[in-house]
Amino acid sequence: MNASSASSASSAATLSPAEQAALTSGGSRWTTTPVRDVVRALTLSDGPHGIRRPAGDAAEAVVSRDSLPATCFPPSVTLGCSWDPQLAHRIGAAVAREASALGVDVVLGPGINIKRSPLCGRNFEYFSEDPHISGVMGAAVVEGIQSLGVGACVKHFAANNQETDRMRVSADVDEQTLREIYLPAFEHVVRHARPYTVMCAYNKVNGIHASENHWLLTQVLRKEWGFDGLVMSDWGAVTDRVAALAAGLDLEMPPTGTDGQIAAAVEGGRLDPARVAEAAGRVLRLRDRTDRAQRFEDWDVDAHHELAREAARASAVLLKNEGDILPLDPTAQQTIAVIGEFARTPRYQGNGSSHVVPTRVDNTLDALTAAVGPATTLTFGAGFTLDGTPAPELAEQAVAQAAAADVAVVFLGLPDAHESEGYDRTDIDMPADQIELLREVARVCPRVAVVLANGGAVSVSEWLAHAGAVLESWLPGQAGGTAIADLILGIESPSGRLTETIPHRLADVPSHLHFPGRDGHVVYGEGRYVGYRRYDTLDVPVAYPFGHGLTYTTFAYDDLETTATGDNRWTVEATITNTGSRFAREVVQLYVAFDEPHPTRPRHELRGFTKVGLAPGASASVRFELTGRDLAWWSTSLGGWRIDPGPFTVEIGASSRDIRLRTVLHTAGDGTLTDLEATSTFGEWLDHPVGGPLLREALARAKAPSPEDLAATDPTLLRAARDVPLAKFTGLGFDVTTQDIDRLTAAVRSR
Ligand code: BGC
Repeated sequence: MNASSASSASSAATLSPAEQAALTSGGSRWTTTPVRDVVRALTLSDGPHGIRRPAGDAAEAVVSRDSLPATCFPPSVTLGCSWDPQLAHRIGAAVAREASALGVDVVLGPGINIKRSPLCGRNFEYFSEDPHISGVMGAAVVEGIQSLGVGACVKHFAANNQETDRMRVSADVDEQTLREIYLPAFEHVVRHARPYTVMCAYNKVNGIHASENHWLLTQVLRKEWGFDGLVMSDWGAVTDRVAALAAGLDLEMPPTGTDGQIAAAVEGGRLDPARVAEAAGRVLRLRDRTDRAQRFEDWDVDAHHELAREAARASAVLLKNEGDILPLDPTAQQTIAVIGEFARTPRYQGNGSSHVVPTRVDNTLDALTAAVGPATTLTFGAGFTLDGTPAPELAEQAVAQAAAADVAVVFLGLPDAHESEGYDRTDIDMPADQIELLREVARVCPRVAVVLANGGAVSVSEWLAHAGAVLESWLPGQAGGTAIADLILGIESPSGRLTETIPHRLADVPSHLHFPGRDGHVVYGEGRYVGYRRYDTLDVPVAYPFGHGLTYTTFAYDDLETTATGDNRWTVEATITNTGSRFAREVVQLYVAFDEPHPTRPRHELRGFTKVGLAPGASASVRFELTGRDLAWWSTSLGGWRIDPGPFTVEIGASSRDIRLRTVLHTAGDGTLTDLEATSTFGEWLDHPVGGPLLREALARAKAPSPEDLAATDPTLLRAARDVPLAKFTGLGFDVTTQDIDRLTAAVRSR
């Protein structure tokens, strides 16, 4: 216990039991409970890509879009694609400054759940299908927020990967999958960024509400990862206040008026009073920490808007650019037809609790108009309505404009109501009227670039042939309009890369047959094979792979070098060169691959990345650190991580399917020797470095045929025998006695 938690605990001791109980529940929808002059009410606000501080009457409303203006930065779906933790850190710090100016102590974010299915209505709030990048970006946001002393709240812990039935559903996930896919991002953030708070999820994990899940909140989060902050509930996630406190929840939000249950449970011996004091002490500790936050009256609205623009620019992903349609030259003699209502009325953030009232909103039509020179003519046609009302006259007018233009830039996307917190999508299709419009535009105009706006991944395969270029802007935040113009006109080169695979069809998605479950359960039947982990293991064709993104230049990868720096430690270096004619940034990705004839683990997994900006002709060296954990898998039988001895491949590439450099390394493993039992198979005994020789000696003593003899005389018998537990040999008439087995087992244990 450090000095400040000790002082919090001791001041908790000065509170009455009733005051302690009161502290473990909110004082209002967005504040903790104040207690005399000991603790002020702390203010908690969404989060994560900007502050949603409800104002006036809206403060007590369950759902309200009426909040104080704040900068709407790009949501995590977008920011994640920047693959730039420094940028995420700066945004976190900017959000914290606005939090401070708006009187907020804790920002409810970032959300770092894994995108298990593109259908999840809330994917726009999450970073990736991959835990490594989710953890690194999540940690950067937390560190940025907390760099000013404002608290962050990592959410939603854990396995909250869908909106359907989110308050009741049980996510049924085997432990290896939890440890390797759904928990590592949280583990990384907790260990590296030390968030002040964690928010538990609504759903159940393997039948137990996250809010009442002792294994999750106490065993894993605190005991294993050393979390020293406060666990609060998601809003309304507590069903049994006493069970939740006992499991390790510290703060129920918002209040349910159930403090009396705490007193009764303590009196009845069902709840340890020390646990109540501990939870109250954590609220005091949060008070202590946030009391030290820097206080600001205001922020530079223009500078934050510019930061939002920089982030949107760094995050848009150029999926396709045939014949270098993009960038367009703003000084050329040309007519550009700007088509699609989204160019004028941008879709820049998602629906639900993260909704920010922006300080201003840019649109691309205005930004292009302001940026092009006098030789360029811009025309605009809305083409379709955002609410889907049929509008043939709009389509006709837009197609006529495309016919008269040199190039058409078509802004397509998912209308607002298609995706939201609170419900999932049922398909990944683009609206049919928009696809039809694109088809017509492409018929009359040979050069077509599409700009997409969407929070969840959409299928492109049906219409890709009609677009020479596709720029995926995701939901780009309040300055997205100008950022997109910057990229279209080549003022900056795109540098976003996909953090989720774009599948050809929904039916290809690994979780498809297991999403969103029914009858109160969603079984994570695809296990660890989420996203590229399945597509790449099984060579499933995809529209665009994880990590993909083009830019306006090209890069060469050379000189892969690895150096062993200790036990299961290596550094990996490579040289990246800009071989094109424009400054641009490359995202260099490191995967660790295991080449197994019959996969027992994903074929390869992202273990590092770095973003490097290079002028034409310039080179830079990139460097990664690999550790044993990067090679490890979770053994449920051991209850821990294991590293198998053997070869593995380090892959350096520009996407999970564009590996440019590879080298094979060797690990001696972690030295773990599995215990051998009487129930271990003949094969397990033979392959064991200690048990194998001992068993061979025992067989020789008993004058039984050696495995080598058997291999020569009866290989089929040997093959079948390998899978038989040793203990069964006695009953099957082989020359191994129970006493032999006991002796062998004891001998293995003693080595
Ligand atoms: C959401 C949280 C959010 C909270 C407060 C819940 O419905 O799941 O992410 O922070 O509301 O608005």
